[in-house]
Amino acid sequence: MKVLGISGSMRKNGNTAILIQKILEHVTENGCDEIETEFVSLSGKEIKPCIGCEKCKESKWCTIISDDWEEIAEKVVECDVLILGSPTYYYDVCGQVKNFMDRTYSLYHDRKLAGKHAIVVAVCAYRGCDRTLETLEGFVNSHEFCYLGYVNGRGYHVGDILNDEIALEMTEKVATKIHKLLSNTLAGRKTKK
Ligand SMILES: Cc1cc2nc3c(=O)[nH]c(=O)nc-3n(C[C@H](O)[C@H](O)[C@H](O)COP(=O)(O)O)c2cc1C
Repeated sequence: MKVLGISGSMRKNGNTAILIQKILEHVTENGCDEIETEFVSLSGKEIKPCIGCEKCKESKWCTIISDDWEEIAEKVVECDVLILGSPTYYYDVCGQVKNFMDRTYSLYHDRKLAGKHAIVVAVCAYRGCDRTLETLEGFVNSHEFCYLGYVNGRGYHVGDILNDEIALEMTEKVATKIHKLLSNTLAGRKTKK
């Protein structure tokens, strides 16, 4: 089973990336060979905006194929648990995350992501995390993911988040939740066999 963490920050090793990687590390620490984790940063990736062509209603896949969206979207389609995180820019998600989410409209028509599980992560320096979380939750709810919870924290400079003990505790809690869920799913599959 696969847990995919995506940091939408343009700072490759920034605060959002740190929180997401902490969650993934805790999932791995809990142990289970059948649970795989992967981290993807949207930093350095070209994610063009949705052009609203609506062609994906027919094609069921985004018709813009000249950038990096497709490669990451394929990973989202294949994962069991998605952790999506964004830094707060003007009280909301950053542009890269918004572009990424908008392009998944192509997966929305047939609810290709429905039933997968999701965690959202938001970081801000002072204020605005609430709206960032709300936007991420809107994405999760629209696609009919099963929402597992969130992690939020405060930090300005890269690495500041490591001083936010509450956020770090939250990463452990959600990781335990993910691990329990996937372990139970695996156990259920074995009982059925
Ligand atoms: C363009 C821009 C807008 C920002 N807007 C906010 C904001 O509205 N509220 C806030 O508390 N911090 C804001 N910040 C600070 C970032 O949220 C903060 O530095 C965060 O730690 C960045 O996370 P990252 O390291 O994962 O990129 C802004 C930063 C930038 C570059």
